[in-house]
Parts: sequence; structure tokens; C-alpha cells
Amino acid sequence: MDTIEANQIIHGQLARMGEYDKSPHFYPENIEFVKSLFTNFFDKLLLGPQSVLSDCLDLGCGTGFMYHILQCHDLDNYVGIDITEDMLSVCRQKYPKISLEIANAEDLPFSEHSFSIVTSYSFLDHLDSPVKVIEEAYRVLKEGGVFYSGLIPNAEFSFNLLSASNSSGQYLWNSYEHQLTREIKAMYNNGAVYAEMYGFDANILQQAEPQKTQHHGLMIDDTINQLKEVGFKRVLICPNWFFGQGLLKTNLEQMKVVDNFLKSLGPVSRALFKYYDFFAVK
Ligand SMILES: C[S@@+](CC[C@H](N)C(=O)[O-])C[C@H]1O[C@@H](n2cnc3c(N)ncnc32)[C@H](O)[C@@H]1O
Repeated sequence: MDTIEANQIIHGQLARMGEYDKSPHFYPENIEFVKSLFTNFFDKLLLGPQSVLSDCLDLGCGTGFMYHILQCHDLDNYVGIDITEDMLSVCRQKYPKISLEIANAEDLPFSEHSFSIVTSYSFLDHLDSPVKVIEEAYRVLKEGGVFYSGLIPNAEFSFNLLSASNSSGQYLWNSYEHQLTREIKAMYNNGAVYAEMYGFDANILQQAEPQKTQHHGLMIDDTINQLKEVGFKRVLICPNWFFGQGLLKTNLEQMKVVDNFLKSLGPVSRALFKYYDFFAVK
């Protein structure tokens, strides 16, 4: 079975069970975070949202997470593509007016310079390699267009956690041992975690997420190099969800202070963040 087939089986099952939209990235705090990311990006590049959001293509759109994020900007045109029909059916029920197509993001059925923004969320780790998709995103983007990708599992975070869990010293302050064990279990046995929750075949799940299964995620520097090699002129990286953030949810103000502080340290703190997003400008 190849990666695409594994994805169709897993995402088809999740969509039919009505479980997909219960994924953590649909929680209100994450939706607020992704919305604020776009506002910050437009401010930083001094772009008005309308200059970028006139024509949007969403890769691996699933049930329409990115449409939910961007619809407040009055999108002129939004096209979602996915390889799993059942995910698109859920999306169609939620947003009957948008344009959805079955297509493989590694071989897009659109001509060059068609879109002003290409998005993909919780997607790049479901591919054997992100390179073909980066090339395709570049090809279909107009000059000055933007490729956004979000919720990319950060391999540096995984390696950081592994070395922490192998550390033999005792620590004067350490309140997060339980969290560490849980993260490591999910990292090594994500298939088993899903098998337990939904009765899935663990091997198929592992096959649907080759970047997580084989490499513990993607490396930020590899992603930057791949984007630049394909021709993107500017790449902005945004790490998100620092280790232990979920435990601070009861104190949102405290969570924001820690989050802003860690992010202000730039590349120095990036191994503390479980995921990263990027904006790449053509
Ligand atoms: C984890 S889901 C993300 C869905 C949505 N973007 C979200 O954030 O909720 C990954 C989606 O990518 C789709 N997918 C996987 N490989 C694909 C490919 N090569 N081309 C298009 N879609 C793909 C899957 O069918 C699935 O719907």
C-alpha cells in the first residue's frame, strides 16, 4: 500500500465516523492562533489581506479547516483539493458554495501563475517528501504570491525530547515528567495511540504519516532550504505549541506571556516547539 492509499483509508474512516473535526487543531485557542498568525504576517510584510487572498488554493483541504480560518477575509475565490472523497463530502456539507476537487497535491491540475496564495495545514508530514508539493505550490503561484503551511511536526522538538528523556541526571525543578512520557509514547507509537482510540490498523496510520514515522517530523532548516532552492525569495518561520503549553491552558494570560517570550528568542528556542508553520513569498 502506498502513502496516498493509506491516507485515503485513514482520513476516509475519520470523516465517516464524524471524528475528524474533533482533532485538537480545531480547538478555539488554535483557531485564534492561526488567525493571528495571518494578521501578523500581513502586518509584517505590509500587505493588505486582499492583495494576497484574491485566489486561494488549499492543498489537502480535508473538511475545510483553512477555509474556516480565511473566510473572515472575504475570499474572492477559494479552491480546495484533497485525495479523500469522504473528507471533501464533509467539507461540502459545511461549506456548500466553495469549489472542491479530488486531486493529488504532488501533481496539480492547474496552470502556472493561477493563485495568489496556496495553503496547506496539517499536511506536509503526510507526504513521502514535501519537495514535489513545494515545487507545485511555486509553479501555480503568481509572482509575489504566498505559500503558507501550518502544523508541521518539528523534528528538532522530537530530538530534544528524546535527549531529555535519556538524560540520567536529576533535576531540581521538573514538573513535566508525565508530559514528556506521553509525548514520547505518541512520537514512537502514534499508530498504537490511534488504534486504541478508534480501532484503526496502527500500521496504516504510521504509513499515512511517513515524515513523522520515519523522521520524527521535518527539520526547519531543511524546509527553508527546499523552499529557497525551488525559488521562494523570502521565508518566515513561525514555531508554535511549546512543550507543556496544553498544561497552561487554564491560565491563558500566563500561556501568552511564555509563548511570546519563547518566540521572541527566534531560532534559539525553536526546539521547544512541537510544530512550526511557514510563509514563503514567491
Ligand atoms: C491531517 S488532514 C488535514 C486536513 C485539513 N487541511 C485540516 O487541517 O484539517 C490531511 C489531508 O491531506 C489529504 N492528503 C494526503 N495526501 C494528499 C495528497 N498527496 N494530495 C492531496 N491531499 C492529500 C488527506 O486526504 C487529508 O484530508
